[in-house]
Amino acid sequence: MRVVASPELLMPAVIDRQSDVPLHRQVYVALRSAILDGRLLPGARVPSTRWLASDLGISRFPVLSAYEQLLHEGYFEGRVGSGTYVRAAPTTHNAGTADATAQELRPRRWLGEGGTRPFRTSLPALDRFPTSLWARLVGQSARKLTAERMTYGDPCGLAALRAAIAERLRVARGVRCTADQVLVVPGSQAALRLCAAVLVERSARVAMEEPGYIGARAAFEAHGAQVVPVPVDDDGLEVGALEAFGSGVRAAYVTPSHQYPLGSSMSATRRLDVIRWAARHDAWILEDDYDSDFRYVSRPVGAMQGMDRTGRVVYLGTFSKSIFPALRLGFVVVPHALWEPFVAAREALDIFPPVVAQMALATFLEEGHFARHIRRMHGVYVRRRSALLEGLRRECAGLLTVHNADAGLHVSTFLADSLEDRDVVARMARMDLVASPLSSCYAGPHPRSGLLLGFGGSDETELLTAARTLGAILRGMGGSNHRAQARGGQTGVS
Ligand SMILES: Cc1ncc(COP(=O)(O)O)c(C=O)c1O
Repeated sequence: MRVVASPELLMPAVIDRQSDVPLHRQVYVALRSAILDGRLLPGARVPSTRWLASDLGISRFPVLSAYEQLLHEGYFEGRVGSGTYVRAAPTTHNAGTADATAQELRPRRWLGEGGTRPFRTSLPALDRFPTSLWARLVGQSARKLTAERMTYGDPCGLAALRAAIAERLRVARGVRCTADQVLVVPGSQAALRLCAAVLVERSARVAMEEPGYIGARAAFEAHGAQVVPVPVDDDGLEVGALEAFGSGVRAAYVTPSHQYPLGSSMSATRRLDVIRWAARHDAWILEDDYDSDFRYVSRPVGAMQGMDRTGRVVYLGTFSKSIFPALRLGFVVVPHALWEPFVAAREALDIFPPVVAQMALATFLEEGHFARHIRRMHGVYVRRRSALLEGLRRECAGLLTVHNADAGLHVSTFLADSLEDRDVVARMARMDLVASPLSSCYAGPHPRSGLLLGFGGSDETELLTAARTLGAILRGMGGSNHRAQARGGQTGVS
């Protein structure tokens, strides 16, 4: 006979009667975490609801409700006359949760964490993606594979796709380019590696926005670059601080349309200052335009590349936000002077992305599905963003301030002074929420704690519920002074 798992093992100090999070949810999350992080193994018998309820000192109803949910989701299985057991292979409704378990066993990643859980950053509305249409285009593309297409193709990418990307960038982003400057790559992470391979010799300095995108830092450091953090203010990268390095900086990585992570858009004056800096110091600008299709407070801001007359901007983009991240397709618009070394490096790296996906994407763009999808998604994100802001206003007043929600798929926020963002994120994980701590985006000390809250991947109801849970967590951590502030009517949500 199997040993019954002990309640302490299952529920290490998790029941908080003061919390706004309902008891059944707390029990559910604790049990599920015990399964997902391996404290409760497949085949283990779980305590009876009566026993667990009495051990936790709560009524049996919330425990029953949690067990029902876990049975329904396939984490538990009932065996007649014998009790309830952890199922051998949980069938989760949230594929991301299973991914998250695997992630916990691996070193920390900046992107692969969190699956599809609420507040996950960098996630588009996967539930609204036209999968049937996409499946049709992929099928059509596979059927159109000729012998020629099945050999080694052009390392620059499929000609039709390069042309469609160049057209879209000219019209929608004001990028000055032709198809023969476009390299198709497996996402912007690959593009960053490519830039590093071509432009950054060992120990060369690369300037990065501080705070900035960890993925970019990782790509440059992987090539032996010395990454130098340059602060950003409301107008973007502080060129004065960049100038202080003299001519020792080979390239500057910037996110002018939507500074990652804080969210501001680089002012026109500042863009020109950065371009002049590059010209003066014979340096390159790496413009990461990662989520520029979605802007809520004004019309999309054109790309910095379109303002440059010196040919010093390497422009990077991705379909991860506009289509879906697992597609792994993105592009680089390469200045003419760098074309040959970029193509050589491209071929040395991984030759080119899979051809069927490129063909399907080319048709998706050419037939106007992409533009329609972006328009539809814009409406979806307007609603999701409003729901999140409303939820934060209602539930997190006095504990969290929205810093910027102008564009993209996440809102950047600051936490009340006494709250450390990594602690908050750890608590959130226990309640099945995921967020990126702002502090993780700093190479040096972080002046403020904050959370990056993604809204693209969850619907309005999920976001409101998640905001409520977040409010409960923050109140639980923040103590009475924050409740008092909240009562004073300061919502902090703009
Ligand atoms: C600033 C920034 N650049 C690039 C990416 C990733 O793009 P890709 O999936 O194309 O590698 C992200 C992902 O979140 C991002 O935040």
